[in-house]
Amino acid sequence: MSSAERTVQISGSTVIVCPNAEAASRVAAESIAATIDSALKSRGKAILGLATGATPEVVYANLAARHRAGGLSFQKVVTYNLDEYYPIQPIDPLSYRSYMHRHLFSRVDLPANQAHVLDGTVPEAFVREHTAEFDRWIEADGGLDLQLLGIGRNGHIGFNEPAEWSVAEAAAAPTRLVELHPVTRADAVREFGDAAKVIPRALTMGVKQILSARAIVMLATGPRKASIVAQALRGPVTTAVPASLLQTVADRVVWILDEPAAAELGS
Ligand code: PGA
Repeated sequence: MSSAERTVQISGSTVIVCPNAEAASRVAAESIAATIDSALKSRGKAILGLATGATPEVVYANLAARHRAGGLSFQKVVTYNLDEYYPIQPIDPLSYRSYMHRHLFSRVDLPANQAHVLDGTVPEAFVREHTAEFDRWIEADGGLDLQLLGIGRNGHIGFNEPAEWSVAEAAAAPTRLVELHPVTRADAVREFGDAAKVIPRALTMGVKQILSARAIVMLATGPRKASIVAQALRGPVTTAVPASLLQTVADRVVWILDEPAAAELGS
């Protein structure tokens, strides 16, 4: 880690503040590569939970570059993505399966049957069966060694949106079909080009599975995230800000921020 980064503890979580988004992405990629290495040494396989969105793109570019350089293999890695629009075809360029293919899966040696993204084509009557099966696959793999997260401007993690249920109910939420929050739909216009075209529902990994990961890396960059990052780290644990539930497993969470995203944390 370079001296330009500073590490602080907030509400029991480790927070690494980097000078810019590129440095933050590099630190996140280093953390993922180190987890793969140590999980392979101890268990012979590494189980990763992955995220989509604008923020992790440089993380995946960095991991792909490490693979090309010869130092990082995904042969014994298994991945589970956080979420997928519903319904959507995997070959639709807007699907998260397509995103993962573009940014990571096609650039590394990860076997196709070890790269799991929730399926936006299952019949609606079988969605529960599919999402329960996804949770069972993760559990059969021994749980996630590391979950990479981003944070929505409304505090969502995966597509676990702000909700009026209790913290205990949210923390127990399984992988499931959800309605997207208005802020999430507004932010998705960037991908879909038009508010009317945004797919309003999605499949999301549940908070239960996310909080069960042995390590959680939350990457947030840019000034638009400053307010919600401060609420999630410094505010109360509340389902109005789903990322605040990370405080309940703080000793397993590392927040990696750039200076603009850290701007409202205070000293
Ligand atoms: P973004 O999305 O990286 O596109 O800002 C983050 C998120 O919604 O989790």
